[in-house]
Amino acid sequence: MTGPVASPQVAEAVTDPKSYAAWTPLLDLFDTIRAETPVVRIESPKGDHDPFWLLTRYDDVMRVSKENARFLNAPRATVFTNKMGEALARDVTARQGEESPNLVSSLVALDAPKHPKLRRLTQEWFMPKNLRNIEAGIRELAAKTADRFVAASAGGSEVVDFIPLAAAPYPLHVVMQILGVPEEDEPRMLFLTQQMFGGQDEDLSKSGMAQMTPEMISQVVFGAVAEFESYFEGLAAQRRAYPTGDVATILANAEIDGEPISARDRAGYYIIVAAAGHDTTSASTAGAMLALAQDPEQFARVKADRSLVPGIVEEAIRWTSPVQHFMRTATEDAQFGDVTIKAGDWLMMNYVAANHDPAQFPDPRRFDAGRDANRHIAFGAGAHQCLGLHLARLEMRLLFDALLDRIDAVELAGEPKRAKSTFVGGLKTLPLRITPA
Ligand code: HEM
Repeated sequence: MTGPVASPQVAEAVTDPKSYAAWTPLLDLFDTIRAETPVVRIESPKGDHDPFWLLTRYDDVMRVSKENARFLNAPRATVFTNKMGEALARDVTARQGEESPNLVSSLVALDAPKHPKLRRLTQEWFMPKNLRNIEAGIRELAAKTADRFVAASAGGSEVVDFIPLAAAPYPLHVVMQILGVPEEDEPRMLFLTQQMFGGQDEDLSKSGMAQMTPEMISQVVFGAVAEFESYFEGLAAQRRAYPTGDVATILANAEIDGEPISARDRAGYYIIVAAAGHDTTSASTAGAMLALAQDPEQFARVKADRSLVPGIVEEAIRWTSPVQHFMRTATEDAQFGDVTIKAGDWLMMNYVAANHDPAQFPDPRRFDAGRDANRHIAFGAGAHQCLGLHLARLEMRLLFDALLDRIDAVELAGEPKRAKSTFVGGLKTLPLRITPA
């Protein structure tokens, strides 16, 4: 290891979920780190997680994202995990016969040659051409969501929280539909996802795991994974008998090299799409609404000229960077300026920091829907670039079209609160006062 080591205070701040609830201090922290030590070693002061290199510069995060043979996903946890979390994942996966630091065998935990083969199965489905087939259905859902949100404001007299009324349920519903989960099973699926991924924020973690021993947690998580697998095997059997045009049907019949994919790979696929597809889009949707609520002139402009909506959507995704990091493992030594990263080292690509790098984005904290060449890295890059990026953009565009039809003005009616989470972050409350159209 040759390179700077962060102070214990900085190391604590970078890995503490609570830091991610306070946005301005978080951006200040990353600005300081980027300016002083853009590639820095983070070591746990209490020894409760393995050390890793934190990357805060846009160019470095882009490089690691694209050099997929040199920086792998599979060997270590792909999301920052402490030693206890990793032991839990190893325990649960060992019971399934394939010990891994990643709980679920999904696209983000795999590398070539298997990763591209699995990814190719649904790649076409997620492209804009195919998404046109489901656009009308999403538009309808967007309209219903906007109607419900406006109705809750009781003609504008009530304060309405945008998160539970619109930003959270809408993307969850879209993702469940493409996976073929009937509406009545959605709460169960949500609960199982929460059990599997724990949740670092006490308000959001409804799984009641806070009081459990590690053995009990392992048992619960193992049970949740098994239940997911058997649920989706049932669904796959149904889709084989009665095929439709959804992702569930593709996965039900999927083959790689002439062999049907395994139940574990199929479950991993369902789980990654279900998990990756809702909190992320909720967070960027909420961010777009916050930006509009804070800038009445921008709201008026986009209401009058809907060609501005895609710019708002793209900037909201950069500005919020809902996926705050992913991890990689170096397969060989690599040089980043004066810093040498050794084979086997663990790296954190911090998207929040990279998307606020002033070398790439002038005045990065400003919400600027007119940024030219907004080449943000909120969807990642390279072989693992977000599979659902066109869907996320489409969902957001359709929701804002529906909201702008129904609302004349919007303003903040209280302090928005962010989630305490190192991984997927964003607002958990956004109180608004609206003027219905
Ligand atoms: C604003 C919303 C979203 C953001 C910010 C986001 C962000 C990301 C990021 C950063 C990655 C990892 C990229 C990398 O390692 O280079 C990723 C991967 C992925 N995302 Fe998204 N995502 C969003 C929405 C969605 C949606 C709506 C879906 C599907 C319904 C989805 C499905 C996936 C999948 C399956 C992967 C794994 C791809 C792979 O490893 O090959 N995401 N996403």
